[in-house]
Amino acid sequence: MTAPLHVAIIMDGNGRWAKARMLPRIAGHRRGVEAVRKIVRAAGDLNIGTLTLYAFSSENWRRPAEEVTDLMGLLRRFIQDDIDELVGEGVRLAVIGDYRALAPDLVAMIDDAIGRTRHNHGPQLVIALNYGAQAEIAATARRLAADAAAGSIDPDAIDQATFERAMPSGGLPPVDLLIRTSGEQRLSNFLLWQAAYAELLFVDTLWPDFGPEALAEAVAAFGKRQRRFGGL
Ligand code: IPE
Ligand code: IPE
Ligand code: MG
Repeated sequence: MTAPLHVAIIMDGNGRWAKARMLPRIAGHRRGVEAVRKIVRAAGDLNIGTLTLYAFSSENWRRPAEEVTDLMGLLRRFIQDDIDELVGEGVRLAVIGDYRALAPDLVAMIDDAIGRTRHNHGPQLVIALNYGAQAEIAATARRLAADAAAGSIDPDAIDQATFERAMPSGGLPPVDLLIRTSGEQRLSNFLLWQAAYAELLFVDTLWPDFGPEALAEAVAAFGKRQRRFGGL
């Protein structure tokens, strides 16, 4: 058995899925949550040890307030409805991003959910919420600079490993496979550090249509890639 994979997904295309059906954007987001449920369950069978899902970016606040409220409502419901099941399935939940800036009740629910899955040993589900990679890197630099100014760390000792450990997402393994749905080919400020050597896979499928078969195909395509990490 090869080492478990870290698969990260930019779940894009909910709005276009809805638009194609003349439905409101929220309908696409609702179907997007259904896709999340299926994908999380499929991940364990595909040797995915860590699945990181980009649910809300630090730039998504630029959307109309109504859509932001809808997205937060869906998140609330996902945690309420699914967490017991995920606990039972052994999934460990983690969150990256500045989720503490969300509504206090949501923050409490997230902390509770993380606590309840802490001792699980199954695959890790990481949800990126109010996440921006550049902000994460800047926060890490700030923290290390403060430690250096306080004399508790020698600036010359700061290397990639030190930096990574100091990152809020420090425990995350490097991303092996980064998938973006909906045909867009950009990273949108997602995991810039952790995806340094990730294999990138852009698929045209809109997120609500991305099912377990699509994930299995993506993992199979990844298996055919030759990773060199700068070597030969
Ligand atoms: C992704 O779908 C979901 C989030 C960003 C929360 P979009 O809402 O970005 O869908 P499109 O890109 O408008 O189709
Ligand atoms: C990226 O999708 C963020 C998430 C999937 C949560 P966006 O739809 O927000 O990205 P851009 O704006 O097209 O780059
Ligand atoms: Mg989009």
